[in-house]
Amino acid sequence: MMTTLAGKVALVTGGSRGIGAAIAKRLAHDGAAVALTYTSSSQKADEVVRDIEAAGGKALAIRADSADVEAVKNAVAETVNTFGRLDILVNNAGVGALAPIDQFLIEEFDRLVAVNIKGVFVATQEAVRHMGEGGRIIMIGSGSSDSMPFAGGSIYALTKGAIASFTRGLARDLGARGITVNNIQPGPIDTDMNPADGDFAAAMTKITALGRYGQCDEIAGMVSYLASPEAAFVTGANLKIDGGFTA
Ligand SMILES: NC(=O)c1ccc[n+]([C@@H]2O[C@H](COP(=O)([O-])OP(=O)(O)OC[C@H]3O[C@@H](n4cnc5c(N)ncnc54)[C@H](OP(=O)(O)O)[C@@H]3O)[C@@H](O)[C@H]2O)c1
Repeated sequence: MMTTLAGKVALVTGGSRGIGAAIAKRLAHDGAAVALTYTSSSQKADEVVRDIEAAGGKALAIRADSADVEAVKNAVAETVNTFGRLDILVNNAGVGALAPIDQFLIEEFDRLVAVNIKGVFVATQEAVRHMGEGGRIIMIGSGSSDSMPFAGGSIYALTKGAIASFTRGLARDLGARGITVNNIQPGPIDTDMNPADGDFAAAMTKITALGRYGQCDEIAGMVSYLASPEAAFVTGANLKIDGGFTA
């Protein structure tokens, strides 16, 4: 266990699997008490909590669909009620869908916007009500907001582009309070959403400068830096970590 974030409290949305689980464990390793949300993977969320507690940390799993405004508000409230404060919000929960624009279902569009945009807005609005000087808002956006190298991803890119813009505007809103806002834009990362042995993997790897997928821990490392006191002068930044996918 490190002490960089000792005494701090973090909330990671979508922390039961993939990138979010790695972020939750890393922030706990850095010394923060960590709450994480999930929708259906309760066993996996409990495993993340157990892993953190076994390493000497504090964690809490909360079922909260990011598309459900009241559930997101309750998740922030439960985090503060349990751990007494909130210093770091990682807006990681996100969903993807691929389809040509003339076949993209309106219901799917609404789901992507509800989770990837509205859920981020609600969590952020609630969280900053509890944050003071040194607070951190960290988005997990996507390199696809700058570059979409294949057809069918336009609506996913639309939602992640909104997060990049939100990050810049929000940094202006919160700068005077000493709260930083940054957006991490991963390239292909090996998770259930985008497995390194999946249908798209070969094409993705081919256009990535380093010729491989990224690992969840590599994203968690960048979150750890942005959450730390060392990153106090970094705000409004859209930071790529993509192995040269968009180079
Ligand atoms: N993997 C990549 O290549 C990649 C690249 C760029 C950006 N990203 C972004 O990184 C983030 C994490 O992606 P990932 O690859 O780790 O995804 P993942 O493997 O599908 O895991 C998603 C996590 O979010 C949770 N989640 C899903 N929908 C949710 C909702 N409506 N409310 C609350 N939690 C929800 C899931 O929990 P449940 O199982 O309980 O639903 C799970 O813990 C996303 O924002 C994604 O867009 C991923």
